[in-house]
Amino acid sequence: MKALITGITGQDGAYLAQFLLDKGYEVCGLKRRLSTLNLWRLDALGITDNVHLIDGDMNDMSSLEKAIEISNPDEVYNLAAQSFVKSSFDTPASTFDVNAKGVIHLLEIIKGSDTRLYQASTSEMFGNVTGMQDENTPFSPRSPYAVAKVAAHHSVKLYRDAYGVKASCGILFNHESPLRGEEFVTQKIVMAVLDIHERKKDKLYLGNLDASRDWGHAKDYVEAMWLMLQNEPDDFVVATGRTHTVREFVDHAFRIKGMDYRDHVEIDPKFFRPLEVGHLCGDPSKIAALGWRPRTAFISLIHNMLLNNVRLAA
Ligand code: NAP
Ligand code: GDD
Repeated sequence: MKALITGITGQDGAYLAQFLLDKGYEVCGLKRRLSTLNLWRLDALGITDNVHLIDGDMNDMSSLEKAIEISNPDEVYNLAAQSFVKSSFDTPASTFDVNAKGVIHLLEIIKGSDTRLYQASTSEMFGNVTGMQDENTPFSPRSPYAVAKVAAHHSVKLYRDAYGVKASCGILFNHESPLRGEEFVTQKIVMAVLDIHERKKDKLYLGNLDASRDWGHAKDYVEAMWLMLQNEPDDFVVATGRTHTVREFVDHAFRIKGMDYRDHVEIDPKFFRPLEVGHLCGDPSKIAALGWRPRTAFISLIHNMLLNNVRLAA
């Protein structure tokens, strides 16, 4: 089997590449040209030489056509995105180009073929909700990032219904790992806890501590992506079914290292967003029926990120 992963240099792309290689797939990855090569995650997993990297950009349809021609994939996993919600308020148009128009480029290219497509949808699409969210919960996006992801999500459904494109959307709730980008709150906290513990700094500045998220481990979630493409095209929520506040995450991370977060955490308004999603908690019953289970509990996730942090390996 052959797979093309867009976003292979990101957190999920790296874990998915490893997962598919272990299954015997030939793995190609779309990589955009940056001034500095960004292969640290693939390097950390020791798989850089086992994947075929193809230059391209989600904004450039001809490069996507070429990548699909070269890789001739059975499965395309579209993970590429401007994925940082806060940044999307500063770069709404380019976020829309990559996260929404880029998906339409891919759908146009694979239309009429047997290639299966996975689209990285997100719990951020739900907006301000209470209780648990599932595949039937209405979308109410509260960031340019989420608006673009909703457009992509609906486009996938449109191409599935109108043209029979074999595409599935995974509505994934937050998932983290030692390979998480440093701008996301969990990794920011973990990095700061390690630095404060080593007395390299004393303070951690954060925004809204009361937001709650359903946090799982990225390694578990890439398995759900693959599982979706082995079944009938559909949409699936992927989540743990449990939610915790940012404050709980900070509290546990500091306590694991024998510290009290109240001695070190300060609130800085610059980390608040123009609009916030206050609470997310997913119901994974539908994907559970395909045999998927989250394997990493909240506390184990924090331990895992603290113990295996790339900063410790450096
Ligand atoms: P990530 O670490 O930020 O990775 C994003 C990837 O997209 C990187 O490889 C990045 O390449 C690539 N990319 C960005 N702009 C591109 C462009 N114009 N052309 C080609 N590639 C581009 O994100 P992630 O956490 O792995 O998330 C993967 C996907 O799942 C994203 O679509 C995200 O929106 C979605 N998602 C994530 C979560 C989560 O909690 N992690 C939850 C729900 C949905 P560079 O390395 O060159 O920057
Ligand atoms: N990043 C960040 N930095 N977030 C902070 C901070 C801070 O200093 N202080 C508080 N927060 C709060 C944010 O306001 C948000 O409520 C929560 O922590 C989580 O923020 P992020 O880790 O940046 O993730 P996100 O929930 O906005 O988005 C992630 O999950 C989505 C799925 O729900 C990203 O991975 C998205 O790409 C993904 O779609």
